[in-house]
Amino acid sequence: MKQSDWPVIVVLILAVISSHTADASYALPSADIPGIPPDNSNITNVEYCKLLAYSLYFYEAQRSGKLPSNNRVSWRHDSALKDGDDVGVDLTGGYYDAGDHIKFTFPLSWSLTSVSWGALEWFQGYKAANQTEYLRAMLQWGTDWLMKAHPEKNVLYAQVGKGDIDHNYWDLYAFAELQPFAKYSDSIPDSKEFYGSSRFNDDLVWGALWLYNATGNTTYFAKATDYINQFSLIGSEEVINWDDKMGAAFILLVKFAQQAGQDPAKWQQVTENYLDAMITSNCYLTKGHLLYCDGDSDEASLNPALNFAFACLVYAPLASSSAKAQSYKNFAFSQIDYTLGKNPMKTPYVVGVHPNSPRNPHHSGAHGGTDITKPKNNLYVIYGAIVGGPDKKDKFLDDRQNYIQSEVALDYNAPFQGIMAYQVVNAQSPPFYVNVPPGRPKNKIGLIIGLVVGAIVFCVACLCIWKRKKIRAFLKSDYKHIHLKQISPGGEMQEGI
Ligand SMILES: *[C@@H]1O[C@H](CO)[C@@H](O)[C@H](O)[C@H]1NC(C)=O
Ligand SMILES: *[C@@H]1O[C@H](CO)[C@@H](O)[C@H](O)[C@H]1NC(C)=O
Ligand SMILES: *[C@@H]1O[C@H](CO)[C@@H](O)[C@H](O)[C@H]1NC(C)=O
Ligand SMILES: *[C@@H]1O[C@H](CO)[C@@H](O)[C@H](O)[C@H]1NC(C)=O
Repeated sequence: MKQSDWPVIVVLILAVISSHTADASYALPSADIPGIPPDNSNITNVEYCKLLAYSLYFYEAQRSGKLPSNNRVSWRHDSALKDGDDVGVDLTGGYYDAGDHIKFTFPLSWSLTSVSWGALEWFQGYKAANQTEYLRAMLQWGTDWLMKAHPEKNVLYAQVGKGDIDHNYWDLYAFAELQPFAKYSDSIPDSKEFYGSSRFNDDLVWGALWLYNATGNTTYFAKATDYINQFSLIGSEEVINWDDKMGAAFILLVKFAQQAGQDPAKWQQVTENYLDAMITSNCYLTKGHLLYCDGDSDEASLNPALNFAFACLVYAPLASSSAKAQSYKNFAFSQIDYTLGKNPMKTPYVVGVHPNSPRNPHHSGAHGGTDITKPKNNLYVIYGAIVGGPDKKDKFLDDRQNYIQSEVALDYNAPFQGIMAYQVVNAQSPPFYVNVPPGRPKNKIGLIIGLVVGAIVFCVACLCIWKRKKIRAFLKSDYKHIHLKQISPGGEMQEGI
């Protein structure tokens, strides 16, 4: 190699380094999982079909207990086979709640209800993506365990983990009506640390409405509206999540009133007041357009946003006007786009779909190490998992130890999965990330330093190339000079290097 080539090579290397981040060189492992539609299949919205299928794969990765022979998650094995032994009850099975090994009934119940609701609304999406069997298995794995956790009329095991097993007194719905009312977490102090329920009255309304839907018994519908009056729940402005279902209950009231041939106008007004208040006053949009609700969004920011998007999509066909319907749909689309890569981090917050997807979610099984810092990168890809999400400045750290942003959980995927089923049938274009080039934007200071250093090196290099003859001559003369000193005066000098 000629001496004069070196500056050029240095400049090229620097240019490559400064134009890409480490992630850009990350080749996504190919999934090769049964039941996932292949990229080249000629079906409508194949990428959304894949996302729906991946989300079901994520739930499969959360399975606890003795796994069936058709388990698709190669790195998830039989686990926690003694759960319940200490109280003489079989509590094996079910789902781990998040990235650790604890099982909870309360957030699981919400997740199963939310997934079921999405499936009731958009079953066509599951059909088009060939996911109906995986959906059935996903729901059954959860409900089978919930039944085990409720072995007697007034007993519910609400949390299984770390050897602590707590219980609460319950009779499914009649339990909940036992006076005096109490939140489940008051009966189970341990659960408060993780999933303390803030109030119980939304749960009474929520449970009554679904019982009405399941049985057609109007007594339950009446109970729901009675509780709303008794607890003055109209005007409630809490985000929708595992802890508060009031916003979602309003939508059910419109739907069920309409299905029963009643005038839904009153509940439409209540619902639209709720939805509009969330967008305009209770929460706000980040610079990158993520719906952000101070407090609720400070951990797992995508969760309130996706639950809200789900609510908007379910509600749109029930809205009081077509203009309202369109505005709710558009709002939902903005949150879907954000989640799928239209954000300042250029990051789809779904694991395993793009080189910019989170690579190190807080999940012990996918990490595969016993020390959270080693190995550096997760060994396995937990395809389809939604991570917590960015902060209110749209910044996201792909850092396993930053569980606030990088943990995954049953309830984070629940609204996402319903939304994907909707998109399989309705999307007009593929998910946003399909057109996002690999590589996250670097932080600005790093970029500026990189550019300045790059520019200096470039100038020096150009100068070197331009003056290379003079430099070579200079180097030769220097060399000659040294040799002249060492060799005898007047001795022959060889050519330089
Ligand atoms: C894909 O499907 C469309 C319609 O379903 C059809 O017109 C087209 O020819 C198909 N393309 C291939 C490559 O099979
Ligand atoms: C579903 O399965 C059918 C045949 O089994 C196949 O033709 C179709 O492409 C599949 N759809 C998806 C989304 O994989
Ligand atoms: C329950 O919900 C399903 C799905 O939306 C609907 O088809 C059914 O009519 C509902 N039943 C009642 C009693 O509301
Ligand atoms: C409806 O539910 C209530 C409360 O559980 C029960 O007392 C009543 O018998 C039910 N009605 C019918 C027709 O099943």
